[in-house]
Amino acid sequence: MTMTMTTAYLAAVGFVDQLQEELRRAGIVVRGRHERLLICDGPAVSAAWAANIWHDCVELPASSIGAAAQALRAIQRNWAMYAPLHHRRANLIHERLPHVSAKPIVFPAAAPTAPLGSWTLLASDRLLAAARCSSPFANGEVAFVEDRTGPPNRAYLKLWEALVRMRRWPGPGERCLDLGAAPGGWTWVLAQLGAEVLAVDKAPLDPKVSALAGVDWRGESAFALEPESVGPVDWLFSDIVCYPARLLRLVEKWRVSGLVKNFVCTIKFQGATDHETAAAFAALPGAEVVHLHHNKHELTVILSAAKDLIDGR
Ligand SMILES: C[S@@+](CC[C@H](N)C(=O)[O-])C[C@H]1O[C@@H](n2cnc3c(N)ncnc32)[C@H](O)[C@@H]1O
Repeated sequence: MTMTMTTAYLAAVGFVDQLQEELRRAGIVVRGRHERLLICDGPAVSAAWAANIWHDCVELPASSIGAAAQALRAIQRNWAMYAPLHHRRANLIHERLPHVSAKPIVFPAAAPTAPLGSWTLLASDRLLAAARCSSPFANGEVAFVEDRTGPPNRAYLKLWEALVRMRRWPGPGERCLDLGAAPGGWTWVLAQLGAEVLAVDKAPLDPKVSALAGVDWRGESAFALEPESVGPVDWLFSDIVCYPARLLRLVEKWRVSGLVKNFVCTIKFQGATDHETAAAFAALPGAEVVHLHHNKHELTVILSAAKDLIDGR
């Protein structure tokens, strides 16, 4: 008898439709839905709109609270609960599992590396569990100890999350280009890390940000900027509000120049989700396209020259 592998995809909050469409385009059939959790046969595929991907799911009997907790503990220590239904019963199981710290992150810090499984109660007596998941955070949700005085807006949380996830960030002496930088939340993050930042936006930066050491501002369109006029950059960031296809052409221009080591760019959708362009981003060598917990109707593309080299070995 052959066992069919099960993968479950937990949609980012508010983006179940996007995930369903992404899976459909990848030829994946959703055979069951448990609120935001889409249950599918076969091994996992990349899915940007998934906050978390549950690999190799198993169904376990949960005839009693104790038996359910014991079955999970027998697999591994750390578990995150997803409980859209049977909430009270699920909580009783959760209370019998070892405590998993969910302290807000103090940036900069790398994402945890300890395996964190996920489980849910499909019915009052039946668990779905996956020991291996794509996100190191419970249900893909990342919380930070926020800075309510330094940055000019909350956009900095998106960048913090991307860098935590990459487990790398710019350091002193590294050169960053921040496209669509105003009012300066991302530039603030980069300056705090000690990096040199060239911030490009027709709009000015918040004076508190432009006064930071290492920050330079150019009041022009990011699309008119030629890579050769800027020279080598360690990190290119973009949070420009523009159509995804236009951002793709911009990223391609800089990628082909060979002058950029790392890219972190927000793909923003106005109106309908442009799945085709999102897939074109994901097809770039070394690219990862993700919906961060702090993203709205947008995705983040992370492209690392170092990763490209490792993958191409
Ligand atoms: C979401 S805001 C960026 C927020 C910024 N990352 C922060 O942390 O404060 C988008 C920015 O894109 C800028 N923008 C739009 N078109 C642009 C262009 N052609 N060149 C440069 N910036 C552009 C807008 O002026 C706006 O400041």
